[in-house]
Amino acid sequence: LSQENQSILSANEWLTKLYHHLLRYTKDGKEGYSYFKERGVSDESIDLFQLGFAPNVKDFTAEFLDKKGFHKQLLVKAGLVTLQEDNSVTDRFRGRVIFPIRNHLGKTVAFGGRSLAEQEPKYLNSSESELFQKGKLLYNFDLAKKHIRKESEVIIFEGYMDVISAYQAEVKNVVATLGTSLTEQQAKLLKRYVDTVILCYDADRAGIEATYKAANLLRQVGCYVKIANLHDNMDPDNFIKQHGSEAFKKEVIQASSTFISFYMRYLKKDFNLSLEGDRIKYIEKVLNQLAVIESPVEREYYLRELSNEYNISLDTLTDEIVTLREKKG
Ligand code: CTP
Ligand code: MN
Ligand code: MN
Ligand code: MN
Ligand code: MN
Repeated sequence: LSQENQSILSANEWLTKLYHHLLRYTKDGKEGYSYFKERGVSDESIDLFQLGFAPNVKDFTAEFLDKKGFHKQLLVKAGLVTLQEDNSVTDRFRGRVIFPIRNHLGKTVAFGGRSLAEQEPKYLNSSESELFQKGKLLYNFDLAKKHIRKESEVIIFEGYMDVISAYQAEVKNVVATLGTSLTEQQAKLLKRYVDTVILCYDADRAGIEATYKAANLLRQVGCYVKIANLHDNMDPDNFIKQHGSEAFKKEVIQASSTFISFYMRYLKKDFNLSLEGDRIKYIEKVLNQLAVIESPVEREYYLRELSNEYNISLDTLTDEIVTLREKKG
């Protein structure tokens, strides 16, 4: 690690502690504390995830770190403050609640800041750097690792709050991609620890599209993929708040579907199934996916589902699969 990066890590560590302390114990951080309380975050979670608050003061962070001997230039480089035209600096995260982003060793390599009211952008992250590449790390991997090993399964969420809520609900083999797109590097990292990955993205348009993409990536690197059972624009955090942790475990996680079953639903958006031509195209596409399934039992299970739903004999569908499998060699 370069001298500079070591200094940045050290500045991040000071700030993690400062923001957390302000939120937890001082009047200056009360706004942030109340925010988390309203969202149902316990003191224990606030401590575990080192959640914090950056006061809405232009150069609070810069002043604090200046006193600790960090140069302005370094803070700009670390993405903690932004340089103004008059050469003064402005705290990047001022007025926001803070989620420290830790690497696999538990070191804060970046911060996420969320606005208290709904002003845009809702979330602001540290800029990408040598230390922080969003596509290479997974939020909470350091804490989740031993649980991921124990369960030999990992659950992937979109966001900070999903991870924190799940953790509070005693579901701890959880990480987040900090947005919706999973990268190949993240997929490969997870493959080293588990066979099964449960995707639990937000059940909105963006989340569903991202689920499809992430599932394909994960399957390519050899993971067995399941899709959590969330609907109606819910996200995991909302669901837990509304229905509780038992319901989350039973109805969302344990009720995860296979990739194929997700795909059969997902694909319907591209077709108007009241039209005969579309129905046939849809069935052909599904059969193409079913053809690559190795287990005959699993193949038959979905073929029966198709057979019942579209009133085509199981024999016909089975013949078609045999042909497709021969073609694929
Ligand atoms: N995100 C981001 N920048 C944004 C929006 C989102 O970096 N402008 C990342 C954050 O890590 C966020 C995740 O994407 O946690 C998921 O986004 P979203 O579903 O919009 O946010 P939630 O986590 O559901 O936010 P909240 O519950 O706080 O409203
Ligand atoms: Mn989302
Ligand atoms: Mn969300
Ligand atoms: Mn949201
Ligand atoms: Mn949310």
